[in-house]
Amino acid sequence: MRTLIRYYQDVKFGVNMLRYKLYGHRFPAHVAIAVTNRCNLKCPYCFYGYTLYKEDKVTTRELFYLIDELCRRGTAYINLNGGEPLLRKDIGEIVDRITGKGMRCSVSTNAILLEDRIEELKKANVSVLNISLDGNEEQHRKNRGDISYAKVIKGIDAAHRHDIPVAICTVLTKDNKDCVDEIVRLAKDKGVYSIFHFLYERLDPKDAEPNQLTREEEIAIMDKIIAYKKQGYPVHYSDRIHEYIKKWPIQGSRLMLDGNAKQAKDDKDFRIIPCVAGDLYTWIDANGKFWPCAVLSGQVNAQSFAEVGFEKAWNEVPKNRCQSCSFFHQAEMNMLFSLEIRGWLDIVSSKFIRP
Ligand SMILES: C[S@@+](CC[C@H](N)C(=O)[O-])C[C@H]1O[C@@H](n2cnc3c(N)ncnc32)[C@H](O)[C@@H]1O
Ligand code: SF4
Repeated sequence: MRTLIRYYQDVKFGVNMLRYKLYGHRFPAHVAIAVTNRCNLKCPYCFYGYTLYKEDKVTTRELFYLIDELCRRGTAYINLNGGEPLLRKDIGEIVDRITGKGMRCSVSTNAILLEDRIEELKKANVSVLNISLDGNEEQHRKNRGDISYAKVIKGIDAAHRHDIPVAICTVLTKDNKDCVDEIVRLAKDKGVYSIFHFLYERLDPKDAEPNQLTREEEIAIMDKIIAYKKQGYPVHYSDRIHEYIKKWPIQGSRLMLDGNAKQAKDDKDFRIIPCVAGDLYTWIDANGKFWPCAVLSGQVNAQSFAEVGFEKAWNEVPKNRCQSCSFFHQAEMNMLFSLEIRGWLDIVSSKFIRP
């Protein structure tokens, strides 16, 4: 029965993609939801003051309403994150609601509670676990405390025992810029995928992150990632995106905004992948606000579905966004939704997305 429901949801997704391409009708094809603002860690670079919160703002009932609305509109994939999503007692129910409606569901976690909750996640048919790993053991401990590295390794092993695919997710900063070799080898040894991210960028230069990599550091890292992927290491994201990030022509920013887009448009060797954040994907925070993407969250105006209802929150996702960007995840999504054949073949052949 679940397989049939999945096929039906995939067909809805396909039809809606066609409508988007032909008539520009937006729909939330891929959605990330922060299900809580609470967290059991306090990572220094984390983009929200999560640990300040003591209660979840969005109730189970509100989340079920959200999931049902997304299903109705043809959403194919939902990522649950936070805060730490495994702190929610109802996480199994939430995942089950998503997968029971034929949508794929990944959960991003710091793995502190993963062994304890793994049965529940398996039972709910979670599609993928994204486990954060901030570099080698020492770098990870520095950010996330003494027990956290062991928890990541135990979490990966528990996921394997339950046959749940895993990706380890690493945010690259000045502190861990030398970690790529260790991370990709660990990913290979453990039979998991490796996902890299950059620190999000603030629109206001006075909020700039001191730990951001320089352009030179970024290019050296991209060369390494591209070489490892060529050698068959399990690095997620397509060659097209790795090259896109490496060739990114805008100096001093990973965002292509009205003010700096000319630098990219003048570069004849650079083919822009247009951003579809807010049209085909959205990031919903733990207060229910709909942002175009995680990078822009908190930086433009947004509405909460819990206050104004789904329709209004979705219709009023902020439009004042960028034209493209060189963040791994967002660029990959933009490329996939632009239906570039090369990127799709790369993703399908990586077997990261299970049928
Ligand atoms: C916000 S956390 C939520 C899930 C879970 N608590 C965890 O740590 O995996 C999701 C991912 O966002 C990453 N992240 C946090 N702050 C970030 C920032 N400022 N820029 C880029 N990624 C960030 C984390 O490292 C983690 O991999
Ligand atoms: S564990 Fe996740 S949500 Fe918590 S502080 Fe670290 S990155 Fe942020």
